[in-house]
Amino acid sequence: SLLDIVVNNEIDLEGYGACEGTLTCSTCHLILKKEDYDRLPSKPTDEEMDMLDLAYDLTDTSRLGCQIL
Ligand code: FES
Repeated sequence: SLLDIVVNNEIDLEGYGACEGTLTCSTCHLILKKEDYDRLPSKPTDEEMDMLDLAYDLTDTSRLGCQIL
């Protein structure tokens, strides 16, 4: 996932991925460009959508980085 890329490359994004991909935070919230959002191979699951509802500044092209494979 994109979360794995951040962790494995020791990218310093404070607080990013607090729940380590267990869908219990929303700190991995990303706002994608429309063209990038449309290119993703999967759409958000109901569980991801529920957690996205809690994300700050939610947009139509928001995703959780831990759910993008
Ligand atoms: Fe917590 Fe993605 S890391 S929901």
